[in-house]
Amino acid sequence: MVPLKITERLARLSPSPTMAIDAKVKRLLQEGKDVVNLTAGEPDFDTPEAIRNAAVAAMEHGETRYTPAGGTAQLKRAVAARLEADTGIAYAPEEILVSVGAKHSLYNAMMALVAPGDGVLVPVPYWVTYPEQVRLADGVVEPVPIAPERRGVLAVEDLAAKVSESTRGLILNSPCNPSGAVIEPDGLAAIAEFVVDHDLWVISDEIYGRLIYEDTAQRSIAAFPGLRERTIVVNGVSKAYAMTGWRIGYAAGPRPVITAMANLQSQSTSNPTSIAQAAAVEALTGDQAPVEAMRRHFDERRRYTLGRLNRIRGLVAPSPRGAFYLWVDMHAWIGQEIRGRLVTHSDDLAFVLLEEAGVGVVPGSGFGVDDHFRISYATSNDLLADAMDRLERLLGSQ
Ligand SMILES: Cc1ncc(COP(=O)(O)O)c(C=O)c1O
Repeated sequence: MVPLKITERLARLSPSPTMAIDAKVKRLLQEGKDVVNLTAGEPDFDTPEAIRNAAVAAMEHGETRYTPAGGTAQLKRAVAARLEADTGIAYAPEEILVSVGAKHSLYNAMMALVAPGDGVLVPVPYWVTYPEQVRLADGVVEPVPIAPERRGVLAVEDLAAKVSESTRGLILNSPCNPSGAVIEPDGLAAIAEFVVDHDLWVISDEIYGRLIYEDTAQRSIAAFPGLRERTIVVNGVSKAYAMTGWRIGYAAGPRPVITAMANLQSQSTSNPTSIAQAAAVEALTGDQAPVEAMRRHFDERRRYTLGRLNRIRGLVAPSPRGAFYLWVDMHAWIGQEIRGRLVTHSDDLAFVLLEEAGVGVVPGSGFGVDDHFRISYATSNDLLADAMDRLERLLGSQ
């Protein structure tokens, strides 16, 4: 027999549970079918011009060689300045690591902090990657359902109900993908106290921190008393600067952890692309007006889509305060038939919406909740209007 036995570690790694619907959406689009795709987890805008120009200049100036594995000094300075402006926390360059996207930063952090058997609190709904990365590090996922009356906003009571003897850490994501929920400063203060009382570490994924609405206050948990020394803040340029393809993310936290993460990175991927790093310097330190312009567009689309969606029969979504998603409660459709097709969970509904209305959505199953689905409003106003018309025609209005 050929000795190609996949390790248990990778054999248990799940492919994305939403892959089937994802593959179908992509296939239909490739075949030129009439589908409005609301599944994308990325801005539809082009990367702003000044950032693109910075990349071209970097190429022309020969910035095409290896950089320090953990990122250029210039980019670390830019990250430090941006973090200080946005969170009020000052980090030294040795407390910052630049990686190949925030997902890579998260992976490095999990490998540094999660020991075999460690419990990690993961609020539900969660971004699909967190539980898989915890398991990759041989940790134990401790899911934390959020009480329904809180409309998706995690509170300390939810954590208190799930913390166990083996809990060592917490993954926070505010604003949250998929729900768009933002934890306000009071809530964060209570969570911070809980974290200190239970002697936990926190990985705080703040990738949507620049995309918040309705005067909602965005704060980093790392800024609360006692938290800086036990928190790894993860962020990046993908969402705020429409740079998903450039692959630049970063982590900031206590030096020993950042050093361990940097060592892992230096022995695995080495440095993120030199040219993308130069572009990220421009993104973080240059004119921030494009970020605000995109945020305003998202806000306008958010309000429009929310208004339309909440008038469609059997669908309800709370008003999200951040990111660019609506988290839609579809439980009223469970057990019902649509055009003769029985809906038993979110995957069924996603297929029905795709096949009967030509609208692509992401079923909640991948985010740990089976009676919801996620739509992204990071697409044009015309397409959003078209998608809402289609859903209304198929499901009716209320
Ligand atoms: C919550 C969350 N964290 C991290 C990421 C990864 O971002 P990046 O593109 O920088 O790897 C995403 C991307 O979808 C996300 O939604």
